[in-house]
Amino acid sequence: MQDFHRLSRIQYLDYKDGDENMQRIPEEMIEQIRSANDVVDVISEYVQLTKRGRNWFGLCPFHGEQTPSFSVTQDKQIFHCFGCGAGGNAITFVMDIEQIPFQEAVSKLGARVGIELEVEQSTVSVEPVSKEESHMKEAHTFAMDYYHHLLLNTEEGEQALHYLEERGFSKALIEQYGIGWALPGWDSLTTLLARKGFDLAEMEKCGLIIRKENKDEYFDRFRERIMFPIKNEFGHVIGFSGRVLKKDSQDAKYMNSPESPIFQKSKILYNLDVARPIIRKKRKVIVMEGFMDVMAAAKAGITNTVGTMGTSLTQQHVSKLKRLTDSVTICYDGDSAGWEAAKRASELLMSENVKTEIALLPDQLDPDDYVKTYGPEAFQTQIIDRPHAYLAFMMMAARKNKNFQYENDTLQYVQEVLEHLIVKSSPLERDLYIRQLSKETNISEDAIYQQFRKIEGKSLRQQSKPSSKKMEEMTPVKNKKLQAIDRAEKLLLSHMLHQAEIVDQIHQEHGLHVFIHDPYEAIFVRLIGFYDEFAQADTHRFLESLNDNELRKLVMEATLTERDPEHAREEVSDCLRQINKHRIELQIQLKMHESKEAEKLQDMKRALEIAREIIDLKKSLSTL
Ligand code: GTP
Ligand code: MN
Repeated sequence: MQDFHRLSRIQYLDYKDGDENMQRIPEEMIEQIRSANDVVDVISEYVQLTKRGRNWFGLCPFHGEQTPSFSVTQDKQIFHCFGCGAGGNAITFVMDIEQIPFQEAVSKLGARVGIELEVEQSTVSVEPVSKEESHMKEAHTFAMDYYHHLLLNTEEGEQALHYLEERGFSKALIEQYGIGWALPGWDSLTTLLARKGFDLAEMEKCGLIIRKENKDEYFDRFRERIMFPIKNEFGHVIGFSGRVLKKDSQDAKYMNSPESPIFQKSKILYNLDVARPIIRKKRKVIVMEGFMDVMAAAKAGITNTVGTMGTSLTQQHVSKLKRLTDSVTICYDGDSAGWEAAKRASELLMSENVKTEIALLPDQLDPDDYVKTYGPEAFQTQIIDRPHAYLAFMMMAARKNKNFQYENDTLQYVQEVLEHLIVKSSPLERDLYIRQLSKETNISEDAIYQQFRKIEGKSLRQQSKPSSKKMEEMTPVKNKKLQAIDRAEKLLLSHMLHQAEIVDQIHQEHGLHVFIHDPYEAIFVRLIGFYDEFAQADTHRFLESLNDNELRKLVMEATLTERDPEHAREEVSDCLRQINKHRIELQIQLKMHESKEAEKLQDMKRALEIAREIIDLKKSLSTL
């Protein structure tokens, strides 16, 4: 027995994630923070939840989905996704979504309820992010701090600071967005990065520096530019955009970081890290074309705003936004490129069932120009508060550059508008817009309705074509045996999670190899360690002690398993018997295979030996 205990302790330490030397947060403090943060409130800051019966539902933030299979249970203070199996409590939710370790999550939730904890911010991520990527992010944070310091505290930065102030950037805004200044020299950042021990090849790969042709030497990518850090949705700095200061510069006005393992324009929404809770609260997000526009809006006090990085809106962008809200206002440039981009973006959003409105800017202005020209207040009241409905905007867009004196233009206009009406409109909207069409073009409403039905018929015929999708959606039914063993392991774990004595007893009688599947064994070993330390069952605390979210999924599923505490002993021994039975069956399968091999090799002696072993195994099965 003694040996078992020593073994388990060592293995437990092996298994345990994280740093043993880390300063610990007192248990009472964790408990206090956990109970002050309601799981529904916390998750609501990231996911739009609606109440159905006793539970709350929403779109799972951990996997892409169209129908809500993510549920939050207030009385148990847990969440669970039926789609991907993700689950846990408020603390582990923050660990997963922000990709931060336990202590940071606790400190974050502490701050949320006014309990300040001193926890070292760690760059260690729970997600299996590569070393390389975390170096790249570290270097970007370092570069941001360096550029920011140059702007605010040095003579070299004075001119840039002056320009920014002229442009309406307050000190607070400069600080909030971490804006900086890159020196004109060739290698000031390169030298610092090297001195800090960063691998320069990695630094080149993430775009901070450039390699000289045919040489093992590097120089700074950004020189003599005002530096705007770009952060991802978790607030990690992953790139920059640098603006020239001199008016007569030959270089491009703006230079962005190149695509890299950490900087992918098709995924980045500028300001999402800051705007997320505000978007949730306002139930609306404003999407702009660039980070300058987002900052211009911030000057006007509009903060539920995100920006793309010089690309059109992608599916990936939309699915990030859909987790937070189903209502989007597009606010793009007023020039024709801006209109085209707004058309594409709103079509994409509408096809994803997002309510889309379009805030239009006059005179070819961008949001930044507008705020400069008409002031922040007008931007709010005239533009943001007065968006156009999707169909109205599409009609305006279709009317652009058309002259109703020409029959062709008129007919094309009617056709375009009707096509939009067919895809997205209620009977009321149809009536409204067809009446408007008729007035504009002098074509009778009847004739327009006829045309409408004609196009509608065509599009219906297309839709009803048989699709092969149904077949793909059918997943093979899981092997029955596997389901039974899975249930047994889960139920056994469930009892273990609720009663320390069960773990002690099983550990003493059976050692460590109780479960068939490795993840369960890993959890079992951690539970032994947990009960060494805590003596009592505490599923929330145990869940939080796991840094591996795959293991957390299993623990969550186990806690949700129906178990009968009154008959724990019977249920446990039944599970053990089933698991044992399964183990023997696996052994028999293995032996049968070996026996076939032996026969193939004409080794009859060995085949006979194996046959005897199989008989013994089968006998032991019948006594179970
Ligand atoms: P002024 O209006 O002249 O004061 O300059 P600005 O800093 O407001 O930039 P501008 O209005 O010319 O451009 C608007 C947006 O277009 C910028 O915020 C950038 O996102 C983008 N942009 C402009 N020029 C460039 C360029 O040379 N390269 C890249 N990548 N983007 C640019
Ligand atoms: Mn401008």
